[in-house]
Amino acid sequence: MLIHLQKILSGQQVQLVRGKLEAADAPWVDGRVTAGFQGAPVKFNQQIDELSSLAGELGDLILAQLERHPRFISACLPLVVYPPMFNRYGEGMAFGSHVDGSIRIVPGNGRRLRTDISATLFLAEPGEYDGGELQIDDAYGMHSVKLAAGDMVVYPASSLHRVTPVTRGTRMASFFWIQSMVRDDAQRALLFDMDNAIQTLNRTGADESARTALVGNYHNLVRMWGET
Ligand code: NI
Repeated sequence: MLIHLQKILSGQQVQLVRGKLEAADAPWVDGRVTAGFQGAPVKFNQQIDELSSLAGELGDLILAQLERHPRFISACLPLVVYPPMFNRYGEGMAFGSHVDGSIRIVPGNGRRLRTDISATLFLAEPGEYDGGELQIDDAYGMHSVKLAAGDMVVYPASSLHRVTPVTRGTRMASFFWIQSMVRDDAQRALLFDMDNAIQTLNRTGADESARTALVGNYHNLVRMWGET
């Protein structure tokens, strides 16, 4: 399931992050340093050194925002979030078709993370660049994604995807992965739909005993499918 999450970062936060990424001393390196066997030959972009203090500082800001974004929690049911990374594509840069690696080692603590969900948080407005679309293939075809700065898309990390060549301007984004408490995308999708329905019933003041039963069902499904 592909989900658009709005306003992970406010306009002010986007400006703050952009200012630091665009500073002359920002530690940009070749994007291939973190690409695996499949990704490296098709990856042409730059990213911030993931061990730099800047990556840590900006990543922590994004993690704090995620924690207070109810729709992110409901859609992803996160167990572990990889420290957010940052990339940019100037003119002529692209990332060809690939599937993200299944297991990543979290820098700093050496913990292994299973990449259930891929996330891209857009940091440039769509009008600032041409091309640079994130294309994601799923059972329903190909989806082309280009969101407002501050918005994020999450999609199954098992999807084949690519970033089309940038032909004008610079595309800047943060990207990372999530290991979910619920590994299976279809089960997560059911829980997300159910939670959305419960929220609507709460807002519209539906019968309380029926709502209590549904909330109980939701938690019992998470208990059945979840891992911690
Ligand atoms: Ni990817």
